[in-house]
Amino acid sequence: MALKITVIGTGYLGATHAAAMAELGFEVLGLDVVPEKIEMLTRGEVPMYEPGLEDLLRKHVAGIEGSTGRLRFTMDWAEVAEFGDVHFVCVNTPQKHGEYACDMSYVDAAVESLAKHLGKPALVVGKSTVPVGSAERLAARILELAPAGGEVELAWNPEFLREGFAVQDTLHPDRIVVGVCSDRAEKTLREVYATPVGQGSPFVVTDFPTAELVKTAANSFLATKISFINAMAEVCEAAGGDVAKLAEAIGYDERIGSKFLRAGIGFGGGCLPKDIRAFMARAGELGADQALTFLREIDSINMRRRGQMVEMTREALGGGSFLGKRVAVLGATFKPDSDDVRDSPALNVAGQIHLQGGQVTVYDPKGMDNARRLFPTLGYAESAEAAVRGADVVLHLTEWREFRELDPAALGELAGTRLILDGRNALDPVLWRKAGWTYRAMGRPAA
Ligand code: UDX
Repeated sequence: MALKITVIGTGYLGATHAAAMAELGFEVLGLDVVPEKIEMLTRGEVPMYEPGLEDLLRKHVAGIEGSTGRLRFTMDWAEVAEFGDVHFVCVNTPQKHGEYACDMSYVDAAVESLAKHLGKPALVVGKSTVPVGSAERLAARILELAPAGGEVELAWNPEFLREGFAVQDTLHPDRIVVGVCSDRAEKTLREVYATPVGQGSPFVVTDFPTAELVKTAANSFLATKISFINAMAEVCEAAGGDVAKLAEAIGYDERIGSKFLRAGIGFGGGCLPKDIRAFMARAGELGADQALTFLREIDSINMRRRGQMVEMTREALGGGSFLGKRVAVLGATFKPDSDDVRDSPALNVAGQIHLQGGQVTVYDPKGMDNARRLFPTLGYAESAEAAVRGADVVLHLTEWREFRELDPAALGELAGTRLILDGRNALDPVLWRKAGWTYRAMGRPAA
């Protein structure tokens, strides 16, 4: 009999995982505690913008015409416990208010609510990003609470999906990591992931702490790469060098690699910033804080970029106050192909200039609603052209394809001043300069 799968928490990770499991051929039941989410998903609608996710969902959600019917949603814990052989826990672990540590309350609540109903053998699989040591603690809690006792096991299976590529990353992961305590758990997870493993995804089996650490180590490495190149950008700015050329040149060394070496206003989003902070906090608790003090520097370099972008803008406008200056901001999301504005460097820069008296007008292809909710006092425009009309300066802060495809000559007709600052090093300077724009980017010479 094919395994039956449940997915607990239907946010970014859970909604994608549920749809992907249905795509792999499993019967899937998703659970969330927020009724609106369940209603939307049941209609085949996704509460966020993620390329390909809505199509995948509609292909499988029961009740939608032409669907396989393999995917359903519920709010009932007993139903989930009764249905599933494998329960994936996909709830979020945000940063605690006023602290670096991560807030485990959603994971704890999910595991407890589920465990109480587990009256038959099952494998509970944690996917959330958690402080190392959590799996061991949760395994003990499950043993305590589950009516089926030792017939219920825990495994840890971190998720590495990127926003904007969530579907692809989930269906074709570049690796599958499973932290297990038994051969039985490993066997079950090999069955769940038989398709991607058959297509070549490496399957790495570890103990609990290693599986938990793989995720935070990977995100710390990525954050370090970005802050490294941003530190080089600072040095290039001081020395008159060109960080884009520098990144290209070091990237040819295969040991370094060219990915994640784009200098600019730095990283944001719901993962990297909070994950490196939670990692530092946890290392402190374990008495290994010295090992991760470098992450504090990674975080500082990253946060400093936002202020540097503001200062670069001030300087380009002639120095002094932003009062009365019209500033067009292209991009609000923390990265392209997402509508996520959590800890977005772009919105942070827009907000700082606005709070200092600038007249800021923001345009983003997908992030407008979320940006408006978070920052209602900023000005918003319905298109790049509308944002740029009459502007004294244009800031390119999220590298959407739409912005690379803008016609600098046509846009120049609308701008008050042809001055563009590229906070993502993603536009073609030659093209913009040819159209009469003054183009400046972080870590690169003025002309
Ligand atoms: C990240 C990890 O990549 C993913 O594996 C993990 O599961 C979740 O966290 P995500 O948050 O979707 O994914 O974003 P990512 O693509 O890693 O980008 C993070 C930030 O870094 C963005 O703000 C992006 O603009 C910035 N970035 C990325 C740079 O500033 N320069 C780069 O070269 C690359």
